[in-house]
Amino acid sequence: MQRMTLRAAINRSLSRVTGFEIRRVRQVTTGLITSHPISAKPSNTQRSFAMKPAAVSVAKKHAAQVRTDPGDKHIRSTFFDRYPAFYQTSETAPYQSRLNLRHDAIFEQNREVFDGARVLDIASHDGRWSFAALQTGAAHVVGVEPRTELVEAARSTLGQYVDDPTRYQFIQGDIFDVLQKERLDIDVVLCLGFLYHTLRYGELLSGLRALNPKHLIIDTTIFHESSGRVIKLDLDYADMQRDAVRDGYSHGDFILVGSPSLPGLELMLNAYDFKIDRLSDWEGIIRDNPDASGVKGDYGIGRRITVLASSSQIPRAKLPLRGYIPTDDAASAPR
Ligand SMILES: C[S@@+](CC[C@H](N)C(=O)[O-])C[C@H]1O[C@@H](n2cnc3c(N)ncnc32)[C@H](O)[C@@H]1O
Repeated sequence: MQRMTLRAAINRSLSRVTGFEIRRVRQVTTGLITSHPISAKPSNTQRSFAMKPAAVSVAKKHAAQVRTDPGDKHIRSTFFDRYPAFYQTSETAPYQSRLNLRHDAIFEQNREVFDGARVLDIASHDGRWSFAALQTGAAHVVGVEPRTELVEAARSTLGQYVDDPTRYQFIQGDIFDVLQKERLDIDVVLCLGFLYHTLRYGELLSGLRALNPKHLIIDTTIFHESSGRVIKLDLDYADMQRDAVRDGYSHGDFILVGSPSLPGLELMLNAYDFKIDRLSDWEGIIRDNPDASGVKGDYGIGRRITVLASSSQIPRAKLPLRGYIPTDDAASAPR
């Protein structure tokens, strides 16, 4: 086995834990540990590490990752070309190529779960995915979206494209309030482009658990540079259409949000008895559609994924319980 350099060994651990790696070290004459007080202005020694995010995903491939043979994922579907109103009603990445490829990953690759389903679309935006759910076979969809202009756009566009208005409903509100107040009968939850606009994961997942859906589809940015069970913190700006809205926990214009790593997301899902069944084949989509644009910088490097999860009791042995479960043997019981 090839011997690793000291820097490679440090980088491996550093990037696993922090998502950063050392790219360049300048020669310094003083040691890194100093008894001098730390000054506000960084010294040469403090500036000597150039930290850059690790370029590629360090997360292990997941067993549920779908893989196809070259050529299998050539996308001919141009779903939104048939419904072009959706190219006009959003300021959040309404690009033709990105929307159509996301349609493949979210709906075509999970087609069977929509048949006759009652769907909840969290952060329904301008209604594009609520509409796609109906067109994929869902019986009914409830969209939840706090921003007035987006709810109005959703109602107007679906009014134009769906003959039967009893098949959809858009609730203007915050998903956390709606999960508390409404009694919804739901088979499939769509959580698309929302998980990284909150930190209230426990509340979200306990609310979804109470609905007892069969399936949950999550399309989200993840902290792909880490293979730990961690969440990377960020701030959303409430005045951006694509960002979180202010809530009872936010302060001023900014909202604390986070992106979990894939192992972090899986642990949270498992803790609420959801099991990951499938990760859509984004690698295949990008491989077979070389002119695909607008997806390579996130889905293309594993920074964004599409996950199908189902309700399923997770065996205790699968949870990282660190030996806390009491056994029959009193002597080995944790104290
Ligand atoms: C990045 S966009 C995603 C839109 C769409 N679901 C998609 O995947 O293309 C995030 C959406 O979340 C909505 N949103 C923000 N905070 C929300 C909340 N507390 N409850 C429901 N939706 C929220 C925003 O208004 C915005 O429409």
